[in-house]
Amino acid sequence: MSPRTSRGLLPVRMLAPAGTPVGAGELVRWAGAVVRGGSTDAVERLRSRIGDRLELAGGGVVAAGSARALLTLLLQELSAGRPERTEVVVPGYTCYSVAASIVRAGLSVRPLEIDPRTLSYEPGALEALEPDPVLAIVSANLFGMPDDLPRLERFAEERSVHLIDDAAQALGARVAGRPVGSFGTAGLLSLDKGKPLTSLRGGLLVTRDPVLAEGVARRVPSAEGPGDAGVGERVRDLVRMLGYGALLRPGPYGIVDRVLELGRTVYDPGFPVEPYPPHLAPMALGLLDRLDEVNRGRSRTARMILDALPEGAGIELPRSARPDTEGIDLRLPLLMESAEARDRALAALHRAGLGATGYYPLALIDVPGLAAELAPDPVDTPGAREVAARLLTLPTHGYVTERDVQRMRTVLSGR
Ligand SMILES: Cc1ncc(COP(=O)(O)O)c(C=O)c1O
Repeated sequence: MSPRTSRGLLPVRMLAPAGTPVGAGELVRWAGAVVRGGSTDAVERLRSRIGDRLELAGGGVVAAGSARALLTLLLQELSAGRPERTEVVVPGYTCYSVAASIVRAGLSVRPLEIDPRTLSYEPGALEALEPDPVLAIVSANLFGMPDDLPRLERFAEERSVHLIDDAAQALGARVAGRPVGSFGTAGLLSLDKGKPLTSLRGGLLVTRDPVLAEGVARRVPSAEGPGDAGVGERVRDLVRMLGYGALLRPGPYGIVDRVLELGRTVYDPGFPVEPYPPHLAPMALGLLDRLDEVNRGRSRTARMILDALPEGAGIELPRSARPDTEGIDLRLPLLMESAEARDRALAALHRAGLGATGYYPLALIDVPGLAAELAPDPVDTPGAREVAARLLTLPTHGYVTERDVQRMRTVLSGR
């Protein structure tokens, strides 16, 4: 039986669009840390293990309440050394919070064209860039699919701009034998829900430059009072953590969608800039132990979906521009034949409870509220607009079954 809702007859089994399944035992352990209040030791361990994973060899890892907060603090730090540089270059299709972080740092946003086949900068757009006002360029590595980072790193060096390697969606991916997140001046990881490694929220900045790490760390506000967050915040996190564990399971329509808000994106430069709550570190540490296994599982599911995709349905598959990459398939992105085909497929997949999303609904140049913050003479980005209109993501997490994959095939073949 399916419940009748205001949106019609919808399935009881509804997949979340992203996430990492967690066991009851794990949840109880992490919940214990939330109740007791975390220790700064756990945050130290998390920083040190991330430093090893990213092969930083001595640099530094800085934790804060979100990746967007760290991006703002990093840009403020870099900008203090080069105040004449006022622009930050971003791919025309990326997370709105990247743009929000730039605005929050008092800088202007320069979106450049992307290639819909790679979801990454269109090489010609970079070549045409006037570098003098540019402080930094930011990568995207969307869905764990690596950008051509060696090329971006070379480009940044040649033009004397910073490369910020946004690995919010790509922890565990590699390019040319190096971890994504380790390219350029600094990398960013997000610990938000639906990311490769989560502790409900949080962010980590990674850099080989210990002086830069110290400079950013000094800018992270410290918690009020000694130790961890107050009881109220910890109770809220306890509820969120138990909710995350329970609601990620395929369940009744609406609960997953409304409570977890996975991948929902709004442009809001008024986000809080806060320290990382130590009581969440045990969750991140626990999931870090099995990150590679979880990533491999997502890639197996992605492969299963790819093998099942109907032929002749006009579906294109974005791919990394380089052959020497190992992606992590956080979600599986498909480019549908047209905007109408995307909207039709999305509605049908949604009715079937299959966890599909249209992802970021607009190219950055079209985001309301951001227009006034764009750098002068912004270029048009038709490729980014096309992606916003034609992209569809399918879930790859551990709750997706073979039967779900067969149902995806049926829906996408229009039968
Ligand atoms: C590509 C990308 N960059 C940056 C961020 C910002 O991460 P956070 O939510 O931790 O601020 C996100 C996540 O929303 C993202 O997907």
